[in-house]
Amino acid sequence: MLTIALPTGRVMKEAIELLREAGLPSKKLSNPGRELVIEEDRIRYILAKPMDVPLYVDRGVADLALVGSDVMWESGARLVELLDTGMGRCSLQVAGPPELGERFRCHRSELMWLRVASKYPKIADDHFSRRGVQVEIVHLNGSIELAPMLGMTDCILDIVQTGTTLKANGLVTLEKVAPVSLRLVASRKSASLGWNGIKPVLENMKGLVGEVVA
Ligand code: PRP
Repeated sequence: MLTIALPTGRVMKEAIELLREAGLPSKKLSNPGRELVIEEDRIRYILAKPMDVPLYVDRGVADLALVGSDVMWESGARLVELLDTGMGRCSLQVAGPPELGERFRCHRSELMWLRVASKYPKIADDHFSRRGVQVEIVHLNGSIELAPMLGMTDCILDIVQTGTTLKANGLVTLEKVAPVSLRLVASRKSASLGWNGIKPVLENMKGLVGEVVA
């Protein structure tokens, strides 16, 4: 039995489509109801909140997972990255009200201090430390755009896909931090001891999407 953790939410549909195209069973998975563990043929799927997926792999509960590169970076989990599927594309961006744009572009970093809302506190910390900008990070779990709108923070660091949410809330991109896509990852244990089970899944996905990351 091979256990694969999948993120619920916005990328779940794309993840299931990828599995289906790679020849993995996906009939029950396409209609899971409220079940969190789905078994089909010799595959067990675990349906988890995106931010929790790396933990199931790191702890060896799941052999494989599809997970966003944003979540991988944030988690700091010890995962073996097998493939960039190229799906679920979006990007991590710093965004804020247009009037912050000038200050953001022309700042002398050592003089700048920003309040940043994010559901990615580690990424925000890494990013602004690298830029030498001092920040106070306000960790929120969602609807991040609210924070600058209500004056709680100066800006946000969040994922942007279509840009609709930014636009609808009067925010603009200030800086692109990193592209994001869905990655196939394995636990370190499965990558060394369970390679025979993982290999066919990897080969099939590679055949579909082409690029090998590691
Ligand atoms: C994400 C993200 C943005 C939005 C970006 O939130 O945090 O708010 O999607 O997408 P867009 O550029 O296509 O508008 P999500 O919908 O996952 O909900 P959340 O705010 O509860 O995290």
